[in-house]
Amino acid sequence: MCGIVGYVGNIASVNASGTGPHQALDVLMEGLRRLEYRGYDSAGVAVVAADGIAMRKKSGKLANLTAELAAHPLPEAMTGIGHTRWATHGGPTDKNAHPHVVDGGRLAVIHNGIIENYAPLKAELLAKGHRFISDTDTEVAAALLGEIYRSLPGDGGVEAGGSADGARLSEAMQLAAQRLEGAFTLLAAHAEHPGTVVAARRNSPLVVGLGDGENFLGSDVSGFIDYTRRAVELGQDQVVTITADTVTITDFYGAPAEGREYLVDWDAAAAEKGGYPSFMEKEIHDQPEAVAQTLLGRSDVDGRLTLDEMRIDADVLKTINKIIVLACGTSAYAGQVAKYAIEHWCRIPTEVELSHEFRYRDPIVDDKTLIVSLSQSGETMDTLMAVRYAREQGATTVAICNTNGSTIPRESDAVLYTHAGPEIAVASTKAFLAQITAAYLLGLYLAQLRGNLFQGQIKDILADLAKVPAKIAKVLANEQQVKDLARSMSETRSVLFLGRHVGFPVAMEGALKLKELAYIHAEGFAAGELKHGPIALIEEGQPVIVVVPSPRGRDSLHAKVVSNIQEVRARGAKTIVIAEEGDESVAEHAEHVFYIPETTPLLAPLLTTVPLQIFACELATAKGYDVDQPRNLAKSVTVE
Ligand code: G6P
Repeated sequence: MCGIVGYVGNIASVNASGTGPHQALDVLMEGLRRLEYRGYDSAGVAVVAADGIAMRKKSGKLANLTAELAAHPLPEAMTGIGHTRWATHGGPTDKNAHPHVVDGGRLAVIHNGIIENYAPLKAELLAKGHRFISDTDTEVAAALLGEIYRSLPGDGGVEAGGSADGARLSEAMQLAAQRLEGAFTLLAAHAEHPGTVVAARRNSPLVVGLGDGENFLGSDVSGFIDYTRRAVELGQDQVVTITADTVTITDFYGAPAEGREYLVDWDAAAAEKGGYPSFMEKEIHDQPEAVAQTLLGRSDVDGRLTLDEMRIDADVLKTINKIIVLACGTSAYAGQVAKYAIEHWCRIPTEVELSHEFRYRDPIVDDKTLIVSLSQSGETMDTLMAVRYAREQGATTVAICNTNGSTIPRESDAVLYTHAGPEIAVASTKAFLAQITAAYLLGLYLAQLRGNLFQGQIKDILADLAKVPAKIAKVLANEQQVKDLARSMSETRSVLFLGRHVGFPVAMEGALKLKELAYIHAEGFAAGELKHGPIALIEEGQPVIVVVPSPRGRDSLHAKVVSNIQEVRARGAKTIVIAEEGDESVAEHAEHVFYIPETTPLLAPLLTTVPLQIFACELATAKGYDVDQPRNLAKSVTVE
């Protein structure tokens, strides 16, 4: 939520590919282009030029800011900050866009998060004579920072013959951060410190990028991936000051602190569309690779799971008597799929809970509880807070996450990274399949450790998992059939999805994708629940997409779901069915059947989800919507 980028270079800076020095504006705009998926209500940049701060900002997508910059160019500069916004306080207007410039135009500030105590701070500042232009909490934080800055004895900056390292601005930021409550990443640039950007973070993401004679700040590494893959993960409640040659980290009280340096394991090309019309289409097609990469190197030739990252004492894992999966959105549906497998394989009661509901209901959590968080970004505030709460109750925590250097893994006892590569489209696709894959590996690992499955059984399941990427590719090869149907349904106003067993969360994920991308009413139901209410929704022509279980599955679920199809069809529904290859019995009850390759029933979601993603993406495209940046949504929701 909100993309943030900061840059300081110098005239001699040359990046890894031999280019440079860079103009701050070029770096900022490239970073914002890559970070736009975090929010796209408005965008703005400020640079520290020879004669002070120069700023442009504009409501709407980044293209509006680009046009504004073309009409009103900024002066040359080597220092700057940039922001792309997802509105919280104050509507998405020009005046509420960031940066907010205060102190007679000398101090520019951008922010991600919510300052919870902005009201008393604003009252205090108003009483001192401050006048506010915007409706944002950010401007309050900026005014507070300016007030503190001016109160410090400071050196007056380079123009007054003082230090260029921005010590005064850093100190002001520390003092301001001490007074702020809530979640924030704040970046500040000051006219008196033309070679410095200072940032503070609490509960909101911020990563440092290390260059040669230039340094970067970003909400995530994509903000600077074009320039460097060397990144530094920051801790909680830290202030970081970058100049072209230095990175200084302290806590909010000025005590020196450390960050963890790491190398980003993907490059800028991985964050491009690669010839696809949208990131979403590219990411849907990345899925065979995402699953394969997530499986890679995590078992040996004998079929033994070797999860080296699971640095949790085996004795602790053996005594676990409950698992709670915490996640939001699509990740929560991945958790619901995983629940079926984990309970089946490990015989450990497993709950899946939306992170934002979890800690407010006095949940039963103790040192025998294993918390498994699922988060693509590793920054979702609701999930972070839920994990923190669980840790306080003594639980052991494992993060399943797609983003190295993010907060949730750092604050968990162990992390199992999904290796889906950068996911840019706001609505999640490949991360979903990678999360299910990783959660399955975790389930098998626990089953191995606790002796719930024979080694041969684990080996067989792993062998089936290894075949999944090729099977996803096969589903993708038939995508045109799904696309044609989606296009023919572009005027549809409502679609219902039915599924059973692991097909139930898949149905809900299919409905979520359609809501997110095509803005039409869609709901996923457990097929067995149909007769208890949802069947009342069926009228002539109502499209119903049914995820049919394998006829080889247990407990005649297949026959029951086929009956459900007949029930809705008898009431006028238009039935569209996802079924396993060879399942001819469904064809007579459906207008359309999409076949997926045979697999173990528990692994079917890794295949059945794919046509539903393609369907939503294509239907939204047919309606002319931007599938990468759906309205009102943000990829990384860093506010509660
Ligand atoms: C947002 C995104 C969803 C995502 C959810 C959870 O709502 O729009 O696509 O599933 O957050 O995100 P996470 O990063 O925690 O998986």
